[in-house]
Amino acid sequence: SRKYQPFAPIALADRTWPSRTITRAPIWLSTDLRDGNQALFEPMNGERKMELYLELVRIGFKQIEVGFPAASQTDYDFVRRLIDENLIPDDVTIMVMTQSREDLIDRTVEAVRGAQRAIVHIYNAVAPAWRKIVFNMDVPQVMALVEHHVSHFRMQSDKHPETEWILQYSPETFSSAELDVSLAACQTAIKAWGVNANRKIIINLPTTVENATANVFADQIEWMHRHLVPREHIVLSVHPHNDRGTGVAAAEFAMMAGADRVEGCLFGNGERCGNVDIVTLALNMYTQGVHPQLDFSDITSVARIAEECTSLPVHPRHPYAGDLVFTAFSGSHQDAIKKGFGAQAADAVWEVPYLPIDPADLGRTYDSVIRVNSQSGKGGISFLMEREHGVVMPRRMQVEFSNVVQRQTDTSETEMTGDALWTLFDATYLTT
Ligand code: KIV
Ligand code: ZN
Repeated sequence: SRKYQPFAPIALADRTWPSRTITRAPIWLSTDLRDGNQALFEPMNGERKMELYLELVRIGFKQIEVGFPAASQTDYDFVRRLIDENLIPDDVTIMVMTQSREDLIDRTVEAVRGAQRAIVHIYNAVAPAWRKIVFNMDVPQVMALVEHHVSHFRMQSDKHPETEWILQYSPETFSSAELDVSLAACQTAIKAWGVNANRKIIINLPTTVENATANVFADQIEWMHRHLVPREHIVLSVHPHNDRGTGVAAAEFAMMAGADRVEGCLFGNGERCGNVDIVTLALNMYTQGVHPQLDFSDITSVARIAEECTSLPVHPRHPYAGDLVFTAFSGSHQDAIKKGFGAQAADAVWEVPYLPIDPADLGRTYDSVIRVNSQSGKGGISFLMEREHGVVMPRRMQVEFSNVVQRQTDTSETEMTGDALWTLFDATYLTT
């Protein structure tokens, strides 16, 4: 992205190597219709799922996890509708999840039968607490479970050669597990699937429960990246949750550590504290000078559709998307922003103080950038007067008028719109 350039920290005297950066967008997978959906008070019905699915396609997701068809009739019918009504564009691949159980795998294969291409997502937990408390299984039993169910899926999918089948294997609870156990589970899946250039596999490593700092997760990903074989036929994916509030950082570090793909949800919906927020993660790419390859050029409409489908509000201070993120209440910020807009040439690298991104790139207008309240200074006031009413005030008048505004906002304790400013200006200078 030419308009945005990576921030280059000043080289420290005792350190000559550069910080790592993200150099390309990952493959994105939206799990809004699966992990996001399963975390709602009221899971989406078919109609809502369709509305969100079509929006995800429009945004540009090439991989979309559409549900858990063996566990829900709504999901089964939804998947069938996508296939039967030809609603999957050629460059989009749907993914469906199933637990490691023969009958569920069979029903899943039946659900996606006839699709041009499909990713089937098989998972089982690998961490000690789950082995011991939930499944009462030792490590060899976990490996046998993986071998058996991946082989079963291979046998069932081979019966339908008209579909290009891709296996996604997730060692659920990866970030809480011993690395050698996770690696052994993944290698078992890779072998049972018979991975080669024509039989693809996605190895998806989740922080099912985020339990460490983001650099520790990145270390785990880097270790897997170095040990998985045959690495060239494996897509290495991550699936961060946000229990510590560091899901975005975990995903960013993981990309720098070797991950090719990221799974997440719009605005961080998902179990407990959510899946990683793909909106923030994608738009953060601009600070690396990288285009995210997703279209958020009308972020307000994306937010409204997500809110309607999930019944969850987007926080007003949500990065990039919240109603308040392109506002500046303090006078010094307003002044700096005003100067920044004045100096910003249309085709130059973006360099407006306090605004990490051009609001126009997200379909937001400058209208909401400057607001005037008791904390504002003359910069914001004169900016609004000039932009909305064509009034260019001389410097002395700016100071004088800002005092008038200050007195008014101090008393009313409310914010002033451009129109209210004009009324006050008119009463102060024109009609008296
Ligand atoms: O969070 C998780 O571990 C999952 C898996 C099934 C990938 O959602
Ligand atoms: Zn998850």
